[in-house]
Amino acid sequence: MLTETTRARRLADLEPVPDDSLLKLITLCNADPRPDKIDVGVGVFRDASGNTPILKVMKEAEQRLLDTQVTKAYLGSAGDKCFAELLRPILLGEHADDPRIAGAQTPGGCGALRLGFELIAIANPSARVFLGTPSWPNHAPIIGAVGLEVVEYPYYERGQGAVRFEDMIAALRSGEPGDVALLHGCCHNPTGADLSEEQWRDVRDAVVDRGLIPFIDIAYQGFGRGLDEDAFGVRLMLSACDEVIVAQSCDKNFSCYRDRLGSIWVKTGSAEATTTAMGHVFQLSREMWSMPPDHPAACAHIILEDPELRARWLVELEGMRNRINSVRQTLAAADPRLAFIGRQFGMFSMLPLSVDQVLKLRTDHAIYMAESGRFNVVGMSDAQIDRFTAAVVEALDA
Ligand SMILES: Cc1ncc(COP(=O)(O)O)c(C=O)c1O
Repeated sequence: MLTETTRARRLADLEPVPDDSLLKLITLCNADPRPDKIDVGVGVFRDASGNTPILKVMKEAEQRLLDTQVTKAYLGSAGDKCFAELLRPILLGEHADDPRIAGAQTPGGCGALRLGFELIAIANPSARVFLGTPSWPNHAPIIGAVGLEVVEYPYYERGQGAVRFEDMIAALRSGEPGDVALLHGCCHNPTGADLSEEQWRDVRDAVVDRGLIPFIDIAYQGFGRGLDEDAFGVRLMLSACDEVIVAQSCDKNFSCYRDRLGSIWVKTGSAEATTTAMGHVFQLSREMWSMPPDHPAACAHIILEDPELRARWLVELEGMRNRINSVRQTLAAADPRLAFIGRQFGMFSMLPLSVDQVLKLRTDHAIYMAESGRFNVVGMSDAQIDRFTAAVVEALDA
């Protein structure tokens, strides 16, 4: 018989989940009737007209897939193996032929992160994960969900738009062998403040000296300086460390967010140990989603395999990168207090505004950004840039 204390709780006893602040922001913005509202809370690329386009090469690949696909039979937990092989040199560069590194398709970067941390938790449940804050809001919950301890350290100096590098190194140097350093590969979300190549080398030294496992989340390869340049940190860590995990999102550089495209990469000290680790990765994916969604990987596979489509993808990717970087320069030139935006990379930056100032921008100017001041530099259309900068400068002056 169940006693009062052991009685199973029922679904009806569940506590409500706290509101997701970014989803709440989208709802608020959608409900605002002002036609000139500016939504810079959104987390996707928008073009000069304010649209999130489907890439032309993606449309063409989808059509080819529709015309040629003859079966939708199961593929297995690794998903589209050719997709991972085609991606391999794009991400790994000079490490592409290293048999100690294996990769597989995942449902987006999120799926890769979950798999990677599940793998760490199986290997070493007492590993701690060093996480610079602020970070992408889903990092800490994913790490917590697999039961690993998160050790936070301050990553960003908001007033100066710069990395708190000494704090970062001090935190990493307090790690114990087997602990994990979660690093943003490029285009840091939410701050836009990336490590310089020199800083990456210092991080590498700290990671190697302390025996930490670098776990690199690279969600925006190609959105910063270029595909190779953005993979600098990934490749540096692969050169220096025997054990590395990389979680990659391709939802951004193929602009297929809702289709869920990503990959996980695992390096260990030997090809045999990597095969064993990947066996765990596939077992974990079987338990969680059985296999990743085929459609986006099948399309990316078509694009990357065909030299003409691949060349056009690179041009479209460059177009997205150029827009991000040119809007950054325009914003940076508007006021010396915004100059830091021009030195950063990727879609996000954080404005040095108080919550009250952010809320006033919403009320007075229909400008929607996160209360932290994080905004998407390409959330606004070209036509909205002047109004955005004028309102932000007014808020900074107030
Ligand atoms: C830093 C970072 N990692 C991972 C992800 C997850 O990407 P995906 O949508 O492919 O799951 C995102 C998405 O915004 C991100 O910004």
